Amino acid sequence: MTGNLPERQLSTSVLIIGTGGSGLRAAIEVAQSGVDVLAVGKRPRDDAHTSLAAGGINAALGTMDPDDSWQQHAADTITESYLLANPETVETVTRGAERGIRDLENWGMDFAREDNGRISQRFFGAHTFRRTAFAGDYTGLEIQRTLVRRAEQLDVPILDHVYITRILVRDNVVFGAYGFDQNTGTRYLINADAVILAAGGHTRIWRRTSSRRDENTGDSFRLAVEAGARLRDPELVQFHPSGIIEPENAAGTLVSEAARGEGGILRNALGERFMSRYDAERMELSTRDRVALAAFTEIAEGRGTEAGGVWLDVSHLPRETIMTRLPRVYQTLLDLQMLDITTDPIEIAPTAHYSMGGIWVRSHDHSTDVDGLYAIGEASSGLHGANRLGGNSLIELLVYGRLVGQAALEHSASLGEQRRSAAAVAEARAEIDGMLAADGHENVRALQRAVRNTMTDYAGVVRSDEGLRAGLAELDATEERMSQVGIHPDIAGFQDLAHAFDLRSAALAARATLDAALERRESRGCHNRSDFPDEDPSLQVNLVWSPDTGVTREEIPPVPDEIAALMRDVSSEGKLVE
Ligand code: FUM
Repeated sequence: MTGNLPERQLSTSVLIIGTGGSGLRAAIEVAQSGVDVLAVGKRPRDDAHTSLAAGGINAALGTMDPDDSWQQHAADTITESYLLANPETVETVTRGAERGIRDLENWGMDFAREDNGRISQRFFGAHTFRRTAFAGDYTGLEIQRTLVRRAEQLDVPILDHVYITRILVRDNVVFGAYGFDQNTGTRYLINADAVILAAGGHTRIWRRTSSRRDENTGDSFRLAVEAGARLRDPELVQFHPSGIIEPENAAGTLVSEAARGEGGILRNALGERFMSRYDAERMELSTRDRVALAAFTEIAEGRGTEAGGVWLDVSHLPRETIMTRLPRVYQTLLDLQMLDITTDPIEIAPTAHYSMGGIWVRSHDHSTDVDGLYAIGEASSGLHGANRLGGNSLIELLVYGRLVGQAALEHSASLGEQRRSAAAVAEARAEIDGMLAADGHENVRALQRAVRNTMTDYAGVVRSDEGLRAGLAELDATEERMSQVGIHPDIAGFQDLAHAFDLRSAALAARATLDAALERRESRGCHNRSDFPDEDPSLQVNLVWSPDTGVTREEIPPVPDEIAALMRDVSSEGKLVE
């Protein structure tokens, strides 16, 4: 017992933290090999964040455009990352992509198909060919359902509602994790040979975001850093051009890029098709960073709507196209705004959507600086650089889910013994005890809002030295107030305790982001500096962050010749940072 609450002790070979697509894919790999695995998630497995992913998943299947190849997919990914993606990671994902799709097919995934039965593929922004496979605009939901079904067939034990507070480490070697059940408060001490962090990124630390309230609060980043790992490129955050503006409590909810992929048109409040100013060739199918910056610029320069948005219009498309290929966008707008997109345009603005940076990992197996600790999916880093191609994250979780599952089980098999630390367990227990005893006057939710305000005001689509420093000063003040919080679980459960940990994670993720954004004195991809509007070739490096070392630079491996030959020039024409 801890206080009045029971503690359950569990043991497994591989522990996976996070039950979205990457966590489940890794769990399936471990279970298929007959090795013990346990997956825990703070959300219900059916409703993990992956279920929100909309428009599609990439693989050069060539079902629509036979000239496509994994090499071209790799070339597009590296080009559009503004040369910050790790070419080894990119090659692993693009080569392994077809296998990822076949695995899903074999497990019953219901992909959209052409009349002759081949998987249909649509255009997504900045891809040379149609290579985005999909299930309407519910692709992530279908993937999540498929993986949950497969995991259940394999009897993978999954614990929902368990919030992990610490990774347990002895002498830089992982031996498990500690946490609590958000409904009952029951503590969990989980001993494990290997731990895979698959608990998402940090985009919920902005006010307008496509993540829900308790998702992507930076948990993975904090857990990894406190265990001794580092972060890479935390400043590289993708702002998706199309988040809805109203209602306020759903601001940022995604309107899938599929809307533009199917022929949606962007206009400002003057009725101008403004993408002609920024990327006349690709127009609405330009890269996300450009479309987001274009929308931001239109709004900032006074050509936006009264509510601070621009218009995305699909009403000229056949109703049949909207109902079959954009059903979620249709439903979402009806539910939230009573707006019929078959007749009316959608008011949108950029929304924090994806952490392209994340935990520092090795490209071949996503191991971290801590022995036995791995990271995958949005928690990790390496594939996207300064701009992620839509649809690449879903394929990444399939490819690396499989590889990291294998790496973790091999690590487990290689251990001669597992050495634990009673002191590390005692610290984890004491941390929760201390937080439950906190009875200060500061409100956790208000402080979460303060972090979001800071990041929105100073680390959004366009940043500056002055703003980032102001952001760090505000964050110092918020952290000062965090020492005075009151934490009050109630009859409904221990959500307040979870929010308090989320707040700590948010503060750490915010600091890493602001520090790295200050250091990246250039504009590149998603990262726009009004005081450094050009790319700086000397910053074609990754920025690695830890609380002890601050920001350091890391060289990126060279691009193999066969991929380099297929790359277009990375141009910044049309990027008007002001
Ligand atoms: O717009 C979208 O459907 C998002 C896709 C993605 O982020 O990959």
